[in-house]
Amino acid sequence: MKKAYLLTAGIIAGILMIQACTKTQPAIPADDELLDGPVDGLSYAANAQFLAGDKAFNADVFTRQTGLGSIFVATSCGSCHAGDGKGTPFTTLTRFGQTDSTGNQFLHLGGPQLQNRALPGYTAEEIPAGASFSKFTPPANTGLGYIELVSDATILSMADPNDANGDGVSGVPNWNFIPGYVHIPVNAVTQNGKYICRFGKKGSTFDLLQQTVNAYNQDIGITSSFNTKDVYSGSNIDPELSDLTIRNVVFYLQTLKAPVQRSQNDLDVSTGENLFSLINCSGCHRPQLVTGYSPVEALSNKTFFPYTDLLLHDLGSGLDDGYTEGSAETIEWRTPALWGLGLSPNSQGGQYFLMHDGRAGSIEEAIQLHGGEGMQSKNAFNALQENEKLQVIRFLKSL
Ligand code: HEC
Ligand code: HEC
Repeated sequence: MKKAYLLTAGIIAGILMIQACTKTQPAIPADDELLDGPVDGLSYAANAQFLAGDKAFNADVFTRQTGLGSIFVATSCGSCHAGDGKGTPFTTLTRFGQTDSTGNQFLHLGGPQLQNRALPGYTAEEIPAGASFSKFTPPANTGLGYIELVSDATILSMADPNDANGDGVSGVPNWNFIPGYVHIPVNAVTQNGKYICRFGKKGSTFDLLQQTVNAYNQDIGITSSFNTKDVYSGSNIDPELSDLTIRNVVFYLQTLKAPVQRSQNDLDVSTGENLFSLINCSGCHRPQLVTGYSPVEALSNKTFFPYTDLLLHDLGSGLDDGYTEGSAETIEWRTPALWGLGLSPNSQGGQYFLMHDGRAGSIEEAIQLHGGEGMQSKNAFNALQENEKLQVIRFLKSL
């Protein structure tokens, strides 16, 4: 009798515990809602390198002992790129000191990036008087390996500097000087010693190696053999990070999967997709691009759907911060990829922070901020029927 009672009590307690657990555990997100997995079919060795890069990117938090600073913005890559999704205005970077293609005039005063935090005993930077600046929210880090493998010829084929086709959209690449350590593909196009760059909001970075080396250096204050300059003193110091770690992080970024479109069979979504092309959003947000050869089979000679042309466009004076990088004008921005757009709120605290500095709180608001070359397209959107506008938004949220 006593035993049975205890047993029943035990079972009830067990059930209560299970219930308590299911209540507190968040729903497991579907696979197509996660951004931080690898592309399909990595070999055993490649997968191990992906995981090593994942750890360095997300788990390695720098301290004074491991080289942090002495001035810095954050202590790990993952603190700004949580879950590899977009960041928020609370994880922005500030860059300052360049107004045209003649280069950054404030390098001697801490440019191009503001290191707004410092270890005890050091002074954090402030934006120097007279320097223009821009704030950047972290982009999602998805599918970057595909973007890296688009040939210069493909990028140039989308450029239309004089708007020869008369659609109001021009578009030029960012020509910039590149560091000596990057690997230049055989088919790279060069002009007066400059190369076509593609990463970053201003499209001023050549490849993922340069992006990674810069991020360690400028964001965390970590030197590597690729860039030995100490961000505080400006003098060269011993590398604080191994080449292997840098290579692993680059490989991780190259092999992060691309977001997959959801709700593809929804009629509103497919109608919205047609409207998106009809009103020429696709003039800049190019639905489809192709990669060249890669030793990673999943990335090699593939068609993919990023919704960008990797070119710079004048989006109007409303978005002109007076700051730039490379050959971009201050009014120009590199078309951001729209894949993963609908998943942005997952890493932005349940809401949207869109455009380069996160100023748009919704997709509708982002569209309304398009001026300059984006003006015709925005006007065409505004002229749609209400239900058609909703279909465009439904489509964008499916990306
Ligand atoms: C303080 C926040 C912050 C930290 C820390 C940070 N990032 Fe970023 N990351 C950004 C912002 C903001 C951008 C956009 C910068 C730009 O447009 O030039 C960016 C851009 C990138 C891009 C380019 C993406 C694209 O679509 O062009 C890559 C790749 C990247 N970061 C990797 C890293 C790596 C690797 C680390 C760690 C070594 C890191 N980031 C640390 C905020 C951060
Ligand atoms: C002339 C080129 C161009 C056209 C046309 C264009 N866009 Fe954009 N779009 C951009 C650029 C460049 C940005 C980034 C501006 C910034 O960061 O401040 C952008 C940003 C966006 C964003 C915010 C993305 C993010 O990650 O923050 C959305 C959403 C968007 N565009 C949707 C559209 C839609 C919908 C249309 C059609 C009505 C359209 N765009 C037409 C170039 C264009």
